[in-house]
Amino acid sequence: MHRTSDSRDAARALAAGHLAALPTETVYGLGARADDPRAVARMYAAKGRPADHPVIVHVRDAQAAWAWAADVPDYARALADEHWPGPLTLVLVRSGRAGDNITGGQGTVGVRVPSHPLMRATLDALAELTGDAAIGVAAPSANRFGRVSPTTADHVVEELGEVLDETDVVLDGGGSEVGVESTIVDCTGPAPVILRPGAVTALQVEQVTGLTRAERSDVRAPGTLATHYAPSATVEILTAAQVADEHDPTTRTGLLALADVPTPLNIVRLCAPETAEDYAQVLYAALREADDLELTRVLVVPPDDAGIGAAVCDRIRRAAAR
Ligand code: TXA
Ligand code: MG
Repeated sequence: MHRTSDSRDAARALAAGHLAALPTETVYGLGARADDPRAVARMYAAKGRPADHPVIVHVRDAQAAWAWAADVPDYARALADEHWPGPLTLVLVRSGRAGDNITGGQGTVGVRVPSHPLMRATLDALAELTGDAAIGVAAPSANRFGRVSPTTADHVVEELGEVLDETDVVLDGGGSEVGVESTIVDCTGPAPVILRPGAVTALQVEQVTGLTRAERSDVRAPGTLATHYAPSATVEILTAAQVADEHDPTTRTGLLALADVPTPLNIVRLCAPETAEDYAQVLYAALREADDLELTRVLVVPPDDAGIGAAVCDRIRRAAAR
């Protein structure tokens, strides 16, 4: 594995059918050329990801995204205009470009235009190397299946260092700014449906589209199921008042909470973010630290379930589900 901060190294590796772990503004992804079935198969194997789980195709711009879709409703275009490049994935009816190996055999494809400058530079260089302006990089989060998503290059190496070989690249773009995965919006029906909450909020989706979002979707989004994003420690969701009563010295216990929640005696403070945005940014690193410290219990006081707080609460619930 070659660790670098030169996007051209990543583009060359991808063009040649190797894997590249890539920084995005949400979390790091493990990228493979979406039009190279062997590279995609290696990416699935490296993660230990089931074949029927679709992956997001990352592209340079909206025009490239539409090449992967057969039908793009006006409200999806409005979302793209407003939030791309950015932490938003659109699920659309797929075109002939999108093979069963990236869609999990479904009739839809997930597409996203990421904003991280090194990721964008990689996509631009790859388009140039391949002569294909709509070239896509299939990239799930760069963690082993079911584990916490990486938000630094070090996390990627921890997760996948052993399965990447010397031809693969880890592109170091620093810490992920958002910290939780993109908002996924199903755009295959008459109104948008949020399949996974993220930094683009439900309110923003309704404001930009002028539509009330629907609750039910026919689209299957495996990997958005319960028990995901889980550390080895047992995660318990508590209120600030309940935390104040905790001071169990017999177990190794950690705490994740906003800064205004005090740390009881004998408990390891894992993060103290000031805002819901900061909470999203540090959440996964704090869960990883719980494992590094071999804690057995992690107490979590979630932020308000609104705005990006909804995404934080969603990931916390999944981390707590056993
Ligand atoms: O922020 C992100 O979205 C990150 C970065 C790397 O872009 N990627 C990411 O990928 O979180 P992954 O594979 O860990 O999660 C993608 C989710 C999965 O739950 C998958 O089921 C869903 O997106 N998904 C992908 N394509 C889909 C499709 N065609 N229909 C429904 N769900 C889809
Ligand atoms: Mg993932």
